[in-house]
Amino acid sequence: MSVKEIISKYPPEKSYLLMMLQEIQNNNEKNYIPEDALQNVAAYLNMTMGSIYGVVSYYSMLSLKPRGKYILRVCASPVCELVDDSLLSWLTEQLNVSVGGTTVDGLFTLETTECLGRCASAPAIMINNETYTNINTARLETLISELRMK
Ligand code: FES
Repeated sequence: MSVKEIISKYPPEKSYLLMMLQEIQNNNEKNYIPEDALQNVAAYLNMTMGSIYGVVSYYSMLSLKPRGKYILRVCASPVCELVDDSLLSWLTEQLNVSVGGTTVDGLFTLETTECLGRCASAPAIMINNETYTNINTARLETLISELRMK
């Protein structure tokens, strides 16, 4: 679906801004919102680019730069960190990428996130829109292998 098709699904009201941006990002194969898409949204909603940038920069799940097919978000909040603080460093080593970076094959982007609301089953991570709990490096290894095969 094109950006224009996505935008035109919504009424031209600012309250739909976040939903539009999310859908544009989800439909982009590199998991981000291109500059020209922002301009189209701004024109449609009669908003300034500055105010749209403000919204995009406020929500950490939105990105203005190309990312991998799979976004790995490691919970960096206290409960998960206390249970197992090795997941992030394990991933940076295994994927050979730093936080915010994307693997050279374009498959994985590594990010951190605030509490995912799954503290009772910590540690937790998100891969795209799915949350995984009671995660450990063995499970991560399996998940990453499975995603590489898809
Ligand atoms: S601290 Fe990680 S899910 Fe709450």
